[in-house]
Parts: sequence; C-alpha cells; structure tokens
Amino acid sequence: MIRDVLRMGDPRLLKIAKPVVGFGTPELGALITDMLDTMRHLDGVGLAAPQIGIDLRLVIFGFESSARYPDAPEIPFTVLINPLLEPLSDEEEDGWEGCLSVPGMRGMVPRFTRLRYRGFDETGAAIDRTVQDFHARVVQHECDHLDGVLYPMRVRDFSRFGFTEELFPDGSVAGED
Ligand code: NI
Repeated sequence: MIRDVLRMGDPRLLKIAKPVVGFGTPELGALITDMLDTMRHLDGVGLAAPQIGIDLRLVIFGFESSARYPDAPEIPFTVLINPLLEPLSDEEEDGWEGCLSVPGMRGMVPRFTRLRYRGFDETGAAIDRTVQDFHARVVQHECDHLDGVLYPMRVRDFSRFGFTEELFPDGSVAGED
C-alpha cells in the first residue's frame, strides 16, 4: 500500500528512531512492502521508515535505473535494519541530493566517499558491505533519517540549494522531487 510521505517541518522527521527488535514478523514484512510500494510509486532510490511516520531504524534503498538520478549506477535492492555506518576514510565528495520529504528541491551535499555498513535484513540475517560513491551516498542519506537529519541540514553552500526546475532548467535532472 502506498503511504503518505512526511515532509520537512513535520516533527516526526526529527526524532531518533528506535531499534527494530523482532525480525521475520508479518508486521515487519507488511511495513517493508508498504515502503517499497511508496518508494517505487515516487521513483525514489531510498526510503526510511520515519518518512512514513514509523519510528523504527529501518531503511530500504536500491534501483536498476532512476529518472531522478539518470546517471547513477545500479544499487542492489536492500532492506537495512539497525544500521551501523563506518566511514573508511576522511575523504568527502560533493553530490546533488534530493529527498522525498523535501519535494521539488535539490542541494549539494558532502558525503564520505568510502563506507562500511553493517546491519540486518528483514529475516535477521547480517549485512556487511563496503561501498563507495553513489551507493555510499544513498546509505548515508537514508540512515541520516534515522537520526532526525535531513539533507538540507548538511548543505554547506546554500548557493547550491534550491528548486530542481531552477537549478536544472535544461531538465538534466528529471523528476518532481
Ligand atoms: Ni530522504
């Protein structure tokens, strides 16, 4: 079922989300199905449970191709629960981000380039990956949502934050949000 996505300004997006304690339950499966339906409906590349008002440390991400990020390499579809992120160097890279909770806008955000992340899938199986570039960016963006952080809070140069249609009048970045 497609759920409403909360928008920036809603205080529920600012909370520290709670850890998931039960894996493999019907409730967890239904939540993930709703998150997937919602993310695909909006052509997003990731979604965090707090964005649909669910106070849990659970994110989903991944895509084969995205109109919102046409040049981005494929990321395998992933359910990541109770994540732990570990940057593998101090190196950062600037990149454009949008967010389904900040519709119609884009901002230039620095993120760690190389990242190890650990956590669990919906069955409780361990996930342990080392990634870089856009994959690392997406994980950092989504997991920020679990700590009440939205990408505009990480923008350093506000001359590179604004409405997508104004920043990219040639339509080089497609999508409504
Ligand atoms: Ni987001």
